[in-house]
Amino acid sequence: MFITFEGGEGSGKTTIIENLYQNLLKKGYQVLKTREPGGSRISEEIRNIILNVNNLEMDYRTEALLYAASRRQHLVEVIVPALKAGKVVLCDRYLDSSLAYQGVARGLGIKEVYQINQYATEGILPNLTFYIDLKPEIGLSRIKHSERIPDRLDLEKGNFHDTVREGYLQIAKMFPERIKVIDGNRPVEVIEQEIMAVIVETI
Ligand code: TYD
Repeated sequence: MFITFEGGEGSGKTTIIENLYQNLLKKGYQVLKTREPGGSRISEEIRNIILNVNNLEMDYRTEALLYAASRRQHLVEVIVPALKAGKVVLCDRYLDSSLAYQGVARGLGIKEVYQINQYATEGILPNLTFYIDLKPEIGLSRIKHSERIPDRLDLEKGNFHDTVREGYLQIAKMFPERIKVIDGNRPVEVIEQEIMAVIVETI
């Protein structure tokens, strides 16, 4: 069972995944929690290149290819072995991040970005994806009040994040079976309960 979580900046994804992870372990499932970009040594190195605030001249296609390369390495090294071992895999971001950020917000095209990712993943898609939907101004104000140091993508202006959200909503319509849109403007416990119910029903 391969489950991914998507959302804009400050959507609460990371907290939600951690709590779901603990909850599933308590229920006796074997679970792997991981994240993109990163999650393996080489992928983390690629992540540092992508998110480095000094790399402002990075070309958008380079960015898309680096995310796909990082995804590939993490997939073969971490995700596929865990799935083969029968684990439930919870992954913070996957292919849909590239479709929304590079495909829509960077304007490279959903189809084009899907194609390079098809090559990178050999068509491995999640069984379930939760997109935690939140207005960017709410998400970004949460980040501002946290300790987190902004990365290269956090520095993009408000309009970029609005387009990311529009992208996600568009992609969710393209894959209605796989992607569940979750209202992120509610207490985390309520969101977790809703997601947990879907997971338990599907496992
Ligand atoms: P991260 O710190 O993991 O963000 P978050 O905590 O919001 O998940 O940084 C990942 C950044 O990279 C985030 O801004 C989204 C972006 N991203 C892409 O643009 N394309 C991708 O394919 C992925 C996986 C992430």
